[in-house]
Amino acid sequence: MKFPGEPFKIKVVEPIEQTTREERDRLIREAGYNVFNLPARSVYVDLLTDSGTSAMSDNQWAGMMLGDESYAGSRNFYHFQESVRSIFGFRNIIPTHQGRMAEYLLFSVVVKEGDQVPNNTHFDTTRANVEHNRAAALDLAIDEAFDPHSEHPFKGNMNVSKLRNLIERVGRERIPLVMLTVTNNSAGGQPVSIANVRAVKSLLDEFGIPLFFDACRFAENCYFIKTREAGYEGKSILEIARELFSYGDGCTMSAKKDALVNIGGFVALNDDRLAEGITTKLILVEGFPTYGGLAGRDLEAIARGLVEVLDEDYLRFRIGQVRYLGELLDKAGVPIVKPIGGHAIYLNAKEFLPHIPQSHYPGQGLVVSLYRDYGIRGVEIGTVMFGTKDSKTGTPIYPKLELVRLAIPRRVYTNTQIDYVAEAIIELYQKRDQIRGLKMVHEAPVLRHFSARFEVI
Ligand code: F0G
Repeated sequence: MKFPGEPFKIKVVEPIEQTTREERDRLIREAGYNVFNLPARSVYVDLLTDSGTSAMSDNQWAGMMLGDESYAGSRNFYHFQESVRSIFGFRNIIPTHQGRMAEYLLFSVVVKEGDQVPNNTHFDTTRANVEHNRAAALDLAIDEAFDPHSEHPFKGNMNVSKLRNLIERVGRERIPLVMLTVTNNSAGGQPVSIANVRAVKSLLDEFGIPLFFDACRFAENCYFIKTREAGYEGKSILEIARELFSYGDGCTMSAKKDALVNIGGFVALNDDRLAEGITTKLILVEGFPTYGGLAGRDLEAIARGLVEVLDEDYLRFRIGQVRYLGELLDKAGVPIVKPIGGHAIYLNAKEFLPHIPQSHYPGQGLVVSLYRDYGIRGVEIGTVMFGTKDSKTGTPIYPKLELVRLAIPRRVYTNTQIDYVAEAIIELYQKRDQIRGLKMVHEAPVLRHFSARFEVI
């Protein structure tokens, strides 16, 4: 067998329209060469994100029909709370409509102007929400995280000595919390080991600093722990998750990833005083604490998805499908980030397109060609997303990595479609010298990648 087979069969299908290269050429031009502006119906295989794109199970859909849409005290909230608590173990469970609202609420209560928030690597909305509170978002992943060739099994790990230096330099009072993103999305979907979590935890205990997780892809992270970290092979994913979160004081979660739903999120934490502050804000911007911006049926789907995602047959298939795509590309010499991460393949655009300088957005150029020539939509994770300017001189500051992420939605695409993606990229790699760079002609002040517009150079 090529890889672990699907532990499910298809009951409902969604037709995909086929488009021609000419149509896509026009559409991408009209979209300002930004794939966020494309109509999704014009995409054949959509690898823009694994977020909110999962196929739900029959059991989740059945749960949707049991939505109790009471304003307060919906029975689905209690089920959701029980399901979250049984995995994460935190006392206060606060539902939100998606992950960034959980971040917004947590940081607006915990972070003050001038604070510093370390993370292994902030996701873009996490960084934006820290900075929105006039605090600094610091990425302190281990050095290997920035080396696309390093085969370190836990490239998501935090650099504990850098973290110690930071705390000693700026002082405990300026660091309201430390975050660990599991898996580390922005640096390649790479896992964090339990050993690293323990080391971070014991350092933070010395200073009394709380540890929070950005838990979006926790089950995928736990699967890597089970298959790569000594001592965990015999444990269930649930046992590993419980141990992982036992070292934390709370978490934010976008349920749109590892809760296998299309919308939802939560903040969970032990501190009752902070939870009260967050709940007060929640009522202002989201809703009553037993629904937090979601319908009762959405809470039910999360409660059930969190159980399904812990299933090892599911995770073996999931991680196996991503690895299968990565190995096809790797064998053909296409430069990708290694080891292969949990939810996505990351093309190394700097090596794919050595003729395009970072100032001409090689990652974006690759994304545009992949769509125009093959109808595949990926996303740039490089200068468009993370590039900044020096606040005094205006000189551009480039990120270390220039990547294109091909995120695989959960339980959505068949392996025939995965084969198509591999063949397309291999063909594109063979004609890579035809790909051109871009010039940014419009950008918003924050999260510019969503709305930026480009012209071909
Ligand atoms: N944290 C991480 C690590 C994420 O990957 C995301 C979303 C969020 C927080 C925010 O969650 O979208 O529910 O508000 N990542 C998606 C992605 C959008 O494509 O990687 P959200």
